[in-house]
Amino acid sequence: MTSAQTTGVSRDELLSAIEEIAVILGRSTYVVGMTGAGMSVESGIPPFRGADGLWTRHGTPRMDGYSQFKKDPTGWWDRRTNQEIDAHIIELRDALAAAEPHAGHYALSELEKQGSLQSLVTQNIDALDEKAGVQNLIEIHGNRTKLRCIECGDRVSLGDFVPLYAPGPCEKCGGLMKFDTVMFGEPIPADVMATARAEIDRADCILAIGTSATVRPASGLLWIAAASGATIIEINPAETKLTPICDVSLRATAGEALPLLLDALSK
Ligand code: APR
Repeated sequence: MTSAQTTGVSRDELLSAIEEIAVILGRSTYVVGMTGAGMSVESGIPPFRGADGLWTRHGTPRMDGYSQFKKDPTGWWDRRTNQEIDAHIIELRDALAAAEPHAGHYALSELEKQGSLQSLVTQNIDALDEKAGVQNLIEIHGNRTKLRCIECGDRVSLGDFVPLYAPGPCEKCGGLMKFDTVMFGEPIPADVMATARAEIDRADCILAIGTSATVRPASGLLWIAAASGATIIEINPAETKLTPICDVSLRATAGEALPLLLDALSK
């Protein structure tokens, strides 16, 4: 496996790396995408880390959000409905509300349709992959357009729910409802984690796009795949913790690389 570490790519280097990635995808039998916040930067949603990251600018939030919620869910919902929320949450929420899928999201959906991508595990909660038509989608950190029962895991669409009031109890089991988005300190729902792990275990190629590969357990799946011999491909304008174990690491953005990859695989 060649290791094409491309940094500061010229157009020719970009196209040559895309060709190399296309050849790898073409000869792989089960390709799983793993996307992070960088996938949606070109849709106007800021990443969390790096120069323009939300946490970089506003500081990393407390890691006990979930235990705070469970301690006093009524108080938590009251603060939400009274708009007593942090500046960075308002910035993120406004960006999420305005975001639309970009050409990279649609390219992933087309790669899935043509059989070059078998599933997509996303750490993003923005629902843009679903909007772009991705079918076999595992939203490992949840989906901002849903509520979820913390007892039975039942998920319901938020519809036009704007948190003007706390949601009622779960209609299935009477349990406590929260946003489906996974909070800091909250375990990944068991059903989602099992599905994500099953996809990773089937993969002989991982396409990691726009993730700093720093937040477990999601990022740990990348090393699990590498350990089982999967080819690891990274598309990211910056080096990450994953870069040293990648077979190909392409310094490019999702919006520029993925449509080119789709073209290369559609010839
Ligand atoms: N295209 C591709 N990648 C990009 C782009 C772009 N246009 N812009 C930035 N990136 C890269 C950055 O270089 C960085 O490596 O996207 C990555 C974003 O990293 P993070 O902000 O750490 O996002 P992510 O890896 O998804 O974080 C994981 O952390 O805070 C939690 O729940 C949050 O799901 C998130 C998790």
